[in-house]
Formats: sequence, C-alpha cells, structure tokens
Amino acid sequence: MTLPGGNPERNSPTSVAPDEVVWEPVVAEPAIVAPIFDELTRQRTKEIIARYPQSRSALLPLLHLVQSVEGFVSQDGIRYCAEALELTTAEVSAVATFYTMYKRTPCGEHLVSVCTNTLCAALGGDDIYARLSAKLGVGHEETAGEPGAPGSITLEHAECLAACDLAPVLQVNYEYFDNQTVETAEALVDALQAGQKPHPTRGAPLTDFKTVEMELAGVFPDLARSVEGPSVADETLRGAQLAADRGWRAPAMPDSPPDLPALPEKK
Ligand code: FES
Repeated sequence: MTLPGGNPERNSPTSVAPDEVVWEPVVAEPAIVAPIFDELTRQRTKEIIARYPQSRSALLPLLHLVQSVEGFVSQDGIRYCAEALELTTAEVSAVATFYTMYKRTPCGEHLVSVCTNTLCAALGGDDIYARLSAKLGVGHEETAGEPGAPGSITLEHAECLAACDLAPVLQVNYEYFDNQTVETAEALVDALQAGQKPHPTRGAPLTDFKTVEMELAGVFPDLARSVEGPSVADETLRGAQLAADRGWRAPAMPDSPPDLPALPEKK
C-alpha cells in the first residue's frame, strides 16, 4: 500500500492518469497541491485501514479523516483516499458525491443543519431555516465568514434527523438541539459566532466541525469527552414507559410465518 506524501509533482492536476475521472471542485484549487496530509494523518490512515478485513471498507472513515484535515473533500483528498485504498479516483468520487455528509466546499468552524423534513417543517423548521439564512446571508451549504475561521458557520437543510418526537430540531456539528424555535435558533447562532459553545440538548459537549469529523473517522483523542452526556430524551422513551406502566406487551412472534393469500395467476 502506498500512502500519498504530498509530492507536488505527483499531485499536480497535470499529472492525472488517463483513466482518472476528475470531479469538478466547486472552489478553485491551487495549481500546486500543498502537502496537507501530514505524518500523523498518514499514521491514522494506516490504523483505520487495519481495522477492516478489506482495505476498501475503510473508505467512509477515510473520507471523514480527510474532512478533519481539510474541512471538506478536495480533489487532493479524493486522490489521497484512492491511493491509500488502491481504488480509482472515480470510485472514491462516486462515494464522496453520493453522501451528503461529505462536503465539496470548505466548511465553517461549525456546521448548522436545520431539519426541514415534513414534521419539523410543519412545526417551524422552515421558519427557522429561513430566519437563519437571512441572518447569516447564506443559502444551503454556504458559509458565513471565512471557512474554518472562529465563528464561521456553514448552513444546510437536513433531511429527517431521526428526532421527530423532539421537532423542530437542528444539529450543530451533528449534536442535537431539540424543540427549537426561531428565537432559540437565532440565539444559538449568535452564541456560535461569538465563540461560545452552548451545550447541546443531548449528546457530547460541542466542539467544531473538524474535531467531529475526526471522531466520525473513528479517531478519539478524548474518548470520555466524546461520549459524555445523555443520548436519549424523555419524549423518546415515553411510549415504552406507557407500555411498561400499563403492562402492554407486543404479541410473541409466531414460530412460522402466517399463510399468505394465494396470488391470482398472471395472464
Ligand atoms: S422530520 Fe425533523 S427529525 Fe424527523
């Protein structure tokens, strides 16, 4: 396995292999790629790959590791993963462009994801997104402030965040802020821009986008802090608690599947 070492000649856009498919970066990249993946990142890359029987299975965490360094996945990051995993850049690009958690533009210090899926939208999520968008002067996947600089914020619409019982919700760096209103969401963004890190409703204390990306890669410099805090809310457990209080039980699973009605013959 060869890990890329930031060789400017090899990483130059002019050195693209004939079979290489290059995705178009949304932001302009420098002509000569800087060696941004340092020795520590390469060491972490080896450790992540060693966790899997097949190296290609490490692609998703490696893309998160790239984001923990760059704040997004650049063309350089695509090549880094491809070389580390002996994949083509086309295969890596296909994965990186499929999942919304992999960003094509540099993110702010914080990523604010407002759920605008059905339930949250009906309960105020659309209003929250609209107010934050107007306040920050940015749209979906755009950043207010210099990406990566303190207080910079990337805003995005999010699909259902699996917290409908606490709607409307938003996340900051994937940590939950439940039962939001336009006013609480605005105050939260004010605090982030002022350099504060309000405690999420549940989950670990707030850090920043790059730190969380490292954790998503499976690297935990401070594991105790990363798992600190409650992970469930009373609302989520209410149904189970009601059932327990009333002695309700789900019927046992039958030993064999029930007979299905015969299908009409195809003509
Ligand atoms: S619709 Fe927003 S969490 Fe499900």
